[in-house]
Amino acid sequence: MNLSSKLPRVGTTIFTVMSQLANEVGAVNLSQGFPDFDCDPVLKDLVTKYMGEAKNQYSPMPGLPALREAIATKIKKTRGALVHPDDITVTAGGTQALYCAISSVVRAGDEVILIEPAYDSYKPVVELHGGNVRTYELSAPDFQVDWNSFSRLITHKTRLIIINNPHNPLGKTLSRDDLEALNKLVSGTDIMILSDEVYEHIVFDGKEHHSVLSHPELKERSFAVFSFGKTFHITGWKMGYCVAPEPMTREFRKVHQFNVFAVNTPAQFALAEYLKTESNYLGLPEFFQAKRDYLQEGLQGTRLKPISSEGSYFQLYDYSAIADEADTEFAKRMTREYGVAAIPVSVFYSSGKDEKVIRLCFAKKEETLGKAIKLLKEM
Ligand SMILES: Cc1ncc(COP(=O)(O)O)c(C=O)c1O
Repeated sequence: MNLSSKLPRVGTTIFTVMSQLANEVGAVNLSQGFPDFDCDPVLKDLVTKYMGEAKNQYSPMPGLPALREAIATKIKKTRGALVHPDDITVTAGGTQALYCAISSVVRAGDEVILIEPAYDSYKPVVELHGGNVRTYELSAPDFQVDWNSFSRLITHKTRLIIINNPHNPLGKTLSRDDLEALNKLVSGTDIMILSDEVYEHIVFDGKEHHSVLSHPELKERSFAVFSFGKTFHITGWKMGYCVAPEPMTREFRKVHQFNVFAVNTPAQFALAEYLKTESNYLGLPEFFQAKRDYLQEGLQGTRLKPISSEGSYFQLYDYSAIADEADTEFAKRMTREYGVAAIPVSVFYSSGKDEKVIRLCFAKKEETLGKAIKLLKEM
């Protein structure tokens, strides 16, 4: 059969490649973007409780009302924004929310602007729907958006702009001024925003997370995507949600209902209850900042130069003082020769731009980070 692929450029990801290599050589794996520690036992007990209470059948398509109400309450407390539970859809992780948002609005020939380096799940979905990706490339060492030059990418075909805040892989955050600059660019147009905020609660050094939901004008044209996986150390549960104004939510759900229809019922009951205790998510900045700092302090004195991480699970390191080989080669050699796996940042650029930077994930036990530090000190 002559199967002509709809996504000819999608192959095995670097994440699989690096993890396989790490397994093969027994390296400490700081390439994977998920915790190697367990979630709160209280959360596990809640799921077990609800399964025992026979909450095991389909949920309503948009998500359980109790969970959507708990999310709306949390948004009001943390972002000061009023969101109606009807504008919230519970999804199978942030990934499914991203998929539904993109596919519900992008048509063949539409342009979608991405800021690169970019998380890998945006571009293929745009292309699957016949959209054209236009990229704005950020550069080392500060990786800041210059909204003036960004504005040159906007055309009459621009349908959607995707932002990610806090950012994977950069660990950078967008300021209130960034959101204001973006708002000025889209004001008076029909351009929509997809704001990937799965790391919303992982922001460091006393900084505030600036959600599109806290920006009254951007909120009216945005899909905002969140992940319980990142917030509660349950990435394997694949639970998240999307917040969008009514007309956008209506379109989003047209895709969602034929994509999964509804997501895991006992997990939704458990999360609705667990969300009521604010301390279950408000302590995350300190928790992850301690890990970021532990790794950074441990690597002081090595030739790996940290690039400031303001949020997310990730810390970038510039390795140019050690080698001038391509970052993919360096990451593989570091895994084989020094026993620590990382992700080369060039894979997050469509152009393969190589800034001689690798991404380390610090969402790991202190013991894991300690092992990695010891090994990297030999480099
Ligand atoms: C920026 C970003 N968005 C979305 C996701 C996916 O979230 P989920 O695991 O809830 O599908 C991830 C996961 O790594 C991510 O880093």
